Amino acid sequence: MSYPYQIKSLEEYQSAYKQSVEDPEGFWAGVADHFTWHRKWDKVLDWNFTGPEVKWFSGAQLNITENCLDRHLAERGDQPAIIWESNDPEEDHRVLSYKELHFKVCQFANVLKNNGIKKGDRICIYMPMVPELAIAVLACARIGAIHSVVFGGFSAQSIADRIQDAQASLVITSDGAYRGNKDIPLKSVIDDALVQCPSIKKVIVLTRTRVPVSMIKGRDTWWEDEIKKVETQGNPACPAVTMDAEDMLFILYTSGSTGKPKGVVHTCAGYMVYTNYSFVNVFQYQPGDVYFCTADIGWITGHSYIVYGPLSAGATTLLFEGIPTWPDAGRMWDVVDKFKVNILYTAPTAIRSLMGFGLDYVKNKDLSSLRVLGTVGEPINEEAWNWYNENIGKGRCPIVDTWWQTETGGILISNLAAVTPQKRSHATLPLPGVQPLLVDEKGEPIPGSDAAIDGPYHAKGDGTAGSGNLCIKFPWPSIIRTTYGDHDRCRQTYFATYPSLYFTGDGALRDEEGNYRITGRVDDVLNVSGHRIGTAEVENAINMHTGVVESAVVGYPHDIKGQGIYAFVIFNGNKTDEILISKDIVQTVARIIGPIAKPDKIQLVSGLPKTRSGKIMRRILRKIAEGELNNLGDTSTLLDPAVVEEIKNNRL
Ligand code: WT7
Repeated sequence: MSYPYQIKSLEEYQSAYKQSVEDPEGFWAGVADHFTWHRKWDKVLDWNFTGPEVKWFSGAQLNITENCLDRHLAERGDQPAIIWESNDPEEDHRVLSYKELHFKVCQFANVLKNNGIKKGDRICIYMPMVPELAIAVLACARIGAIHSVVFGGFSAQSIADRIQDAQASLVITSDGAYRGNKDIPLKSVIDDALVQCPSIKKVIVLTRTRVPVSMIKGRDTWWEDEIKKVETQGNPACPAVTMDAEDMLFILYTSGSTGKPKGVVHTCAGYMVYTNYSFVNVFQYQPGDVYFCTADIGWITGHSYIVYGPLSAGATTLLFEGIPTWPDAGRMWDVVDKFKVNILYTAPTAIRSLMGFGLDYVKNKDLSSLRVLGTVGEPINEEAWNWYNENIGKGRCPIVDTWWQTETGGILISNLAAVTPQKRSHATLPLPGVQPLLVDEKGEPIPGSDAAIDGPYHAKGDGTAGSGNLCIKFPWPSIIRTTYGDHDRCRQTYFATYPSLYFTGDGALRDEEGNYRITGRVDDVLNVSGHRIGTAEVENAINMHTGVVESAVVGYPHDIKGQGIYAFVIFNGNKTDEILISKDIVQTVARIIGPIAKPDKIQLVSGLPKTRSGKIMRRILRKIAEGELNNLGDTSTLLDPAVVEEIKNNRL
């Protein structure tokens, strides 16, 4: 497979960017021409950001799995599509060629059909990182069922919320999951969730850990038995269902600053074109490369850059079930060495955690196959960047710092490996088709910050530096289309803060060359180990604990996680054992949201700093959590200053 749209030089980047701004429809049609369509589009783009309503490739018909599988069979049917490495280094790895993956996806798509699944049905997937997870995802797409993958670290309650919101009719799970030295009982979590989910008619259970599970007659069925049924039916083929360009491909739930997580909706054609385009360009994938992204398919990174982007590009994608620190902190480097990985894409939090274990775990590993490194999920601090660059890349691998979001579907701001300049701790330049700009609080553009007008790159450093809130003013193909079941929430959350702009929720700086540096969220959203968690969500969970009157949650700098969760809690119950109370509260949060949202610190307080109108002054709590006790800013609107003194004195 060749990629005629792969950018090879800074000059090519400049001209692609220019064309993408001057003639976006021509630009994206030129890329989209290299995919397999049942029918081509009538119109490349229709859009307005007031609805919002964005339609890419209207009138086109396709199936994304034909682009990820069928079209590779003739040329690279025997090439590995997926290499799978187990959690257990002793267990044999697995390799699925494009032919085998195609066969298995068709087979499981037939299982779904046997279970009554039709185009448009919603399917919840709660599985470990095994090839069957990718197979399940692609099987849904094959027949036009909409997948909603839920990360294994979410609780039964979180799963139930997601299933109810999507009105899913089928769950695909496994008996259990291995994670380091832990066994996680996935099926039993699903059983707890399903007590509240009458829409679910069937549960398909893959065997992985073989822990005892309850299998309910008429509802639960084993993956392996379902496959046998398909085998006896004889016909392994499964034609790909024809999808309209704007038909839903998947829902992925993500947290915001208010309310319950919302279902971000991505559609077929635009998502396919953009994840492929960004994959090929950012990582500079070359045919034959082994590409390893350490994310979980339960997050957008796994959707876009383990499954759809790489497979649509005919790449070899490595799927790793384990964690970087088990059996020891050299595990990731063993995997790189074992499979001669060329491109490694991971998160700053993983790098910081491995850094802490020292260089002994890197020393004897052969990392010479590596050519490109990447990071994603949060700003990467200079120390972690340097460590990654020196000890993993040995100073010879470009590092792509990729900024994007669940809502953007793909990477929007990043250097292109060894093609556009990198700058430590900067996401750098927008991809072609992406038009960022920075605005102030009132929505006024910061002078010189509009990449489409001011130019994306100023080699002579003669651009205008500035800072502000990061917005995008023009649609790219994989932009969020709606929040499932509640379009107005999508409008309010992303398109209402600044009229006719998509607002990211991030703050950013732009330097004189045009490089963007993302500074982090400017809303009440935390980024803990690269996972997005809403403070309101954590507060709601804490408030469910008996005895809790009120709580306020803020982030604070954490050496490994990037941000830690600091909760200030007014507790009315019996306070004889504060340590136990804190543990109970942590347990409550784990129950309601999942282990990933457990507070790191819980401080019991007698009151919270409020304004006269009763609003919690989070700014003050943030300062206290960060340890900036002598620099609380303006406290003149504070109702009761004594509360602040007490909180400061008892700070954890
Ligand atoms: C938020 C999106 C999409 C990747 C996985 C996270 C932060 C993401 C970077 C980066 C600085 C980054 C932002 C963004 N973020 N990548 N390279 N540099 N910050 O997806 O859960 O939707 O979170 O992650 O704050 O808004 P997500």
